[in-house]
Amino acid sequence: MSEPDILVHHEAGVTTITFNRVDKKNSFTEAMYGAMAEVLNAAAEEASVRCVVFQGDVTVFSAGNDIGDFLRQGGETQPAPFTDRAVWRFLNAIATFPKPLVAAVCGPAVGVGTTLLLHCDLVYAGDNAAFALPFVNLGLCPEAASSLLLPKMLGMHRAAEALMLGEPFMAEAALEVGLVNRVVPPTECNAVAQAQARKLAAKPLSALMQTKRLMKGAQTQEVLARMQEEAGAFSRLMRSPAAKEAFSAFMQKRKPDFSGM
Ligand code: COA
Repeated sequence: MSEPDILVHHEAGVTTITFNRVDKKNSFTEAMYGAMAEVLNAAAEEASVRCVVFQGDVTVFSAGNDIGDFLRQGGETQPAPFTDRAVWRFLNAIATFPKPLVAAVCGPAVGVGTTLLLHCDLVYAGDNAAFALPFVNLGLCPEAASSLLLPKMLGMHRAAEALMLGEPFMAEAALEVGLVNRVVPPTECNAVAQAQARKLAAKPLSALMQTKRLMKGAQTQEVLARMQEEAGAFSRLMRSPAAKEAFSAFMQKRKPDFSGM
């Protein structure tokens, strides 16, 4: 029997979610989003869980949404509302998660592989980490409130390079803008994140939760409203000729042809 695409481990108050679809560069399927949303919702309620860690493989964090899933969803004749999809449950869960979220990122972190980090409290990166937000290159627009959070973090011009040009940036650049806390050798990254998570798990949970709530302040409502607005635009764009061309081109391993679009 093959291993699940999402591995979950509980130890010492820390729940670790490991992306385990390395042959497909840890791209996320609907089933993976659903599984992660369930783990997060349970972890929010379960008193023994004090912190959640996301980690991938030492060679790849996540290549973002599964593009085969995008292609199928874009072709649905009666598409489910975006807010009924597992990805929406996952994005809501990370945006509202009341306890600390920590991430260990090595290798490519594409699309939601990067935007999910905007909802983490601590992020540690291997020096091989490469962040990319190629939404426009896929005929899409930002999600996970990245259209709000990234300009706040990077400033408008650098956010435009990331979100409009879709230019990748490496771990050191991510450190400079504050997207990651520390850059470490890739083989040490998961251990560093775990050690920080254990430190958090040893602290009084109610004080941590209040601190997180106060630090987020009114931003959580703004984030949820932006995610809703992005979801509407994203769903429409997913069905556009440009997106279909981009998804098909990726699957067929060729360059997209956007002429006339
Ligand atoms: N969805 C579905 N399959 C994906 C995928 C994705 N997002 N990303 C990678 N894969 C698959 C590839 O199709 C390939 O499958 P195959 O072995 O059956 O041909 C396998 O994973 C390996 O990918 P490959 O592109 O050969 O690896 P690489 O090391 O050369 O490049 C990436 C790695 C992550 C840079 C590259 O795969 C990539 O750009 N992926 C797409 C990222 C993306 O646009 N995501 C959506 C963001 S919204």
